[in-house]
Amino acid sequence: MANRTSLLLYQLSRRRRSPPLTSFFYYVPTCFVLFTSSLFIVLYITKTSNVVFFAHHQQQPSTFYLEEQQQQPPLPFEPLNLSFKANPPPFHREQEIPVVGFTESRHLEENSNSSGGGNVGIQHLGSHGINVNNEVFHDRDMFLEDYKQMNRSLKIYVYPHRPDDPFANVFLPVDFVPGGNYASESYFKKVLMQSHFITKDPTSADLFFLPFSIARMRHDPRIGVNLIQDFVRDYIFNISHKYPYWNRTGGADHFYVACHSVGRSAMQKSEEMKFNAIQVVCSSSYFLSGYISHKDASLPQIWPRQGDPPDLSSSKREKLAFFAGSVNSPVRERLLQVWGNDSEIRAHSGRLTTPYDVELLGSKFCLHVKGFEVNTARIADSLYYGCIPVIIANHYDLPFADILNWRSFSVVVATLDIPLLKKVLQGFGSEQYLALKNKVLEVRKHFQWHVPPVEYDAFYMVMYELWLRRSSLRVIATVKQ
Ligand SMILES: *[C@@H]1O[C@H](CO)[C@@H](O)[C@H](O)[C@H]1NC(C)=O
Ligand SMILES: *[C@@H]1O[C@H](CO)[C@@H](O)[C@H](O)[C@H]1NC(C)=O
Ligand SMILES: *[C@@H]1O[C@H](CO)[C@@H](O)[C@H](O)[C@H]1NC(C)=O
Ligand SMILES: *[C@@H]1O[C@H](CO)[C@@H](O)[C@H](O)[C@H]1NC(C)=O
Ligand SMILES: *[C@@H]1O[C@H](CO)[C@@H](O)[C@H](O)[C@H]1NC(C)=O
Ligand SMILES: *[C@@H]1O[C@H](CO)[C@@H](O)[C@H](O)[C@H]1NC(C)=O
Repeated sequence: MANRTSLLLYQLSRRRRSPPLTSFFYYVPTCFVLFTSSLFIVLYITKTSNVVFFAHHQQQPSTFYLEEQQQQPPLPFEPLNLSFKANPPPFHREQEIPVVGFTESRHLEENSNSSGGGNVGIQHLGSHGINVNNEVFHDRDMFLEDYKQMNRSLKIYVYPHRPDDPFANVFLPVDFVPGGNYASESYFKKVLMQSHFITKDPTSADLFFLPFSIARMRHDPRIGVNLIQDFVRDYIFNISHKYPYWNRTGGADHFYVACHSVGRSAMQKSEEMKFNAIQVVCSSSYFLSGYISHKDASLPQIWPRQGDPPDLSSSKREKLAFFAGSVNSPVRERLLQVWGNDSEIRAHSGRLTTPYDVELLGSKFCLHVKGFEVNTARIADSLYYGCIPVIIANHYDLPFADILNWRSFSVVVATLDIPLLKKVLQGFGSEQYLALKNKVLEVRKHFQWHVPPVEYDAFYMVMYELWLRRSSLRVIATVKQ
């Protein structure tokens, strides 16, 4: 438990006490994540270019980085002082920076001990940045211990709404079994309201849930996509006048949950919401300015399926990889252009003639390729059908990435490397493939919803992410009811 102190330090450093852009503690970790991510990508490219595997890059690797970063704010190198990071805590973000498989990581491990000095960022990555752990969790013991504590003590207050509220449809949980692409949003609220995390006493709450549903607002003719922003702004106005809790922290201990990407622009007219509140969203991209990876959390997009698929163990996976979907992004265009006619990588545009589950059960790897957004339900689909997810979606802040070691059960491939896809996938020997596959079976349970919830399922994992983001140092002395 020697890491306890550093974990605590890290958690303290993540607390948000004042409006973010003026807060040192808020700002530094943000910069740090941006900074180290960028360094890592550079480092990764530099390193891999020496590996035989990657000897055939057609393009200049750096162009990928520059193109993709344009919308990011400039990195403020000046105020960075990384010395307090010298001993990284177990849930450190660096562990989640996309890496292809196991093969290259060996080359990155060589740089072991180094510390201090002006190059802290780079050297630090060399020594600690790569997680050699092949387990599903970054640190199982730490997670289980924290989870228990979370399960015991986390309390959520939900702003109350009566069934006769004209917008009860937006605020109350759905009374049907959620389904489809955006089911995660409805599942979360439905399960939360029945869980032991709920408290009726706001003074004992760690976090406050804003129960509006983006999905239901979209379909409500009184609101619709065009008026969601106004509705959210009005809602914040209402609760911040009626209750003292929002003003206390400017919304920093409040959260909402949304799966449809409309949720992002929904906060456009509520700056405090966007900058302070915890946004638990499916479209969690480091690239988008509205999403702040360590403040916000990634909600897995899950098309709910009940029970186990029938022939998971007996399935013969003869195809190397599979993708099907509409070609609605340059990344998918590229995939189809390179692999559209391949016999081992089945990349299919539009409607399939074979059943989807047959394809997922018949392939070793299943491709999750960025479309309009970084997220789709394909990762959860792959896991459900025992297929190893291959993530081709630059800047996707993967769900539960601060808990789960994605490298143990998935392969992350940079968009630029689409032409190398077959080499990358064939590079996994049968032993490595089986190791990944076993981990896929192990993590499946974290990507499933249940009513009522089942220990360690998607609901509990989201609760744990919230727990990591709670603000336990709130100062409330001057607030009177
Ligand atoms: C960085 O912070 C450490 C500890 O707070 C301090 O000792 C050190 O002087 C700082 N370095 C710079 C360059 O400000
Ligand atoms: C890394 O540092 C530790 C403690 O300072 C030391 O025991 C170990 O030998 C060092 N390893 C290398 C490869 O330098
Ligand atoms: C979580 O809390 C529930 C309700 O108190 C309890 O039934 C369950 O055993 C707890 N799980 C763990 C892992 O502590
Ligand atoms: C805000 O409160 C007003 C007055 O009670 C109400 O008419 C309106 O519907 C509320 N708006 C939202 C978004 O809750
Ligand atoms: C919260 O702050 C707003 C704006 O400063 C103010 O109008 C409102 O009255 C405050 N709410 C409460 C409950 O004091
Ligand atoms: C695939 O093959 C068809 C028929 O030979 C051809 O028309 C098409 O251009 C090919 N597509 C790609 C991406 O190579």
